[in-house]
Amino acid sequence: MYNNWEELENSIKNCKKCKLCIERKNIVFGEGNKKANLMFIGEGPGADEDIQGLPFVGKAGQLMDKAFQGLGIKRQEIYITNIVKCRPPLNRVPEDNEAEACLNYLRNQVILIKPKIIVLLGSTALKNILGKEYSITLSRGNWIEQKGIKYMPTWHPAALLRDENKKVEFWKDLKQVVEKYNEINY
Ligand code: URA
Repeated sequence: MYNNWEELENSIKNCKKCKLCIERKNIVFGEGNKKANLMFIGEGPGADEDIQGLPFVGKAGQLMDKAFQGLGIKRQEIYITNIVKCRPPLNRVPEDNEAEACLNYLRNQVILIKPKIIVLLGSTALKNILGKEYSITLSRGNWIEQKGIKYMPTWHPAALLRDENKKVEFWKDLKQVVEKYNEINY
């Protein structure tokens, strides 16, 4: 574990811990406030993120930005990252060995940021952070507290693009997050 950002960021440069390094254009480490109380964790970079080296800048990201706007959250005040930092080919779900190879970077990010709330976007984030026994369908919308961090699992924004009905639940879940976040900040 690294106790400062510079060392952590240097440690991931040229990472070859898994085969996702072969086709990546850029490592998408994460973006935002390194002292954020609120953190969002997605699955892995898509094509746009791979090109720009930034998380959630494609279609799913635009949806998130709309939600943030509606909720009164500024992207600069939160921290956003993913389970894997390199794009899985054709946006497939990261394999367990890829997620495992990458998880120490995420653990280290969480240790340095010390967020009070973490939103888990979709099944991949939920299962890799809280355990394979969790189901996104059953867990979403419910707070799960572990080691002083409050986790809110919800749908991955890409799922909303495929199923409009999930938008209402996503919005409800994020409303709960904002309420808690405001409580913590005041
Ligand atoms: N989907 C993700 O899970 N992460 C991104 O950064 C973009 C799309």
